[in-house]
Amino acid sequence: MAVALQSTGAHTVPRAPGAVPLLGHAWGLWRDPLGFLTSLRRHGDIVRVDLGTMPMYVVTSAKLVHEILVGQVRSFEKGRFFDRLRPLAGNGLANSDGDIHRRHRRMLQPMFSKDRIAGYSDMMSRNARSMADSWTPGQVVDLEQAMAEYAIETLASTMFSTDIGLPAVEAVRKNLPVLLKNLLIRAASPKFLDRLPIRANRDFDAAATALRSVIDTVITTSRRTGHTGHTDLLSLLLAAQDTESGQGLSDVEVRDELSTILFAGAETTAATLAWTFHELAGSPDIEKQLVDEVDKVVGDRPVTINDVPQLEGIRRVLDEVIRLHGVTLLMRRTTTPVQLGDHTFPAGTEIAFSLYALHRDPGLYENADSFDPDRWLPERRTSIDRQAYMPFGAGNRKCIGDQFVWTEATIAIATVLSQWKLTPAAGHTPKEVASAVAHADSIPMTVQPRRR
Ligand code: HEM
Repeated sequence: MAVALQSTGAHTVPRAPGAVPLLGHAWGLWRDPLGFLTSLRRHGDIVRVDLGTMPMYVVTSAKLVHEILVGQVRSFEKGRFFDRLRPLAGNGLANSDGDIHRRHRRMLQPMFSKDRIAGYSDMMSRNARSMADSWTPGQVVDLEQAMAEYAIETLASTMFSTDIGLPAVEAVRKNLPVLLKNLLIRAASPKFLDRLPIRANRDFDAAATALRSVIDTVITTSRRTGHTGHTDLLSLLLAAQDTESGQGLSDVEVRDELSTILFAGAETTAATLAWTFHELAGSPDIEKQLVDEVDKVVGDRPVTINDVPQLEGIRRVLDEVIRLHGVTLLMRRTTTPVQLGDHTFPAGTEIAFSLYALHRDPGLYENADSFDPDRWLPERRTSIDRQAYMPFGAGNRKCIGDQFVWTEATIAIATVLSQWKLTPAAGHTPKEVASAVAHADSIPMTVQPRRR
């Protein structure tokens, strides 16, 4: 006989302490987002947080996050955070729901296949070498900045490989950093603040308009001149046809997908790479293992796609860096009544979770705050609950760029380590800043040629 699950309504969910009148917990979240989000697990598997007057239920257990992303995925849509990104990225893959999402995901998935990524890898390697070659012995390089430039350059050249796209590459270089700087704050703030006549809003709006208009012009020119037969993302999107409906993407849809990939793929990758060099500097033994591995697998030649699977030490380091410095906050909204744990939530409830906080849960990871790439060695990783590690999300909304970023990041790390030894510059301790991921304020490091 089936036993009915006992459940209580959302009103019995414990409320996080520290709410203040009118602002609720928004002040705590704004002042120290990462500290606030990691503190919530102390209060339960689901904790109510008030953003002004809007209640948001933060899920702190890996099992329940998995329920949202996989088990009961049909009962959720993307929610408030993504509504706020819609003016920038329209109905691109990260923002859309239901049939539109399914159709676009079907069309874009082949653009991130193994063969396509192999095709993009030469350019990743060229960009990594030109970054490493531009440094001079003794120079202090801000790794945050350098890796942001590398990630943006790599995305821009994956999208626009021909002369027609050059204005778009320029526009991405110039405007994307301005947009990324304020993206999370925009998404988390009430809409009326967008209209305040302050510098941050003016810069943001000008950058968004400029980027959109250049990408639109490039798309129109490409369609008019029959720009096909290339393997850049722009050409692939223009030529894409849905296998079920036989329809292609409109110009606006192509623009929205390009914008989405820029927003989703630049800062996340840059932060992961920048933290990697910071963490390696604090773990000389691990760094030495990686340098030996690169020497053995690659030697003096440029890094290629075939080297990537053999650079297993780099893979473990990346797994660990992404665990420690992951995606800050994701949101969903219930579309039907949903039971999560002991509670039932009505349709329209805003639910959130922090992959950053989950990945630092001491109940899931031994010495959760320590950098220990060897926890990913085959003999040790069996003790880690596979469902509890989800740096790229899970289910039908899992990051489409995960293999892209493994390749891009592995190539960059191997290229830099083969040429340079990086040491933290005196006088600055990098601090975490919450944005889409937990990136660093800055990571100044001195570069010296590596003696073989
Ligand atoms: C270290 C780097 C990255 C991390 C940690 C990361 C993380 C994530 C996560 C957690 C999601 C799921 C969001 C959700 O469930 O709401 C996601 C989605 C997405 N990511 Fe990434 N990402 C990274 C790099 C990239 C790159 C390089 C690209 C593109 C080249 C990309 C494109 C996307 C897109 C388009 C989506 C939306 C997928 C969908 O909803 O179908 N990401 N990413």
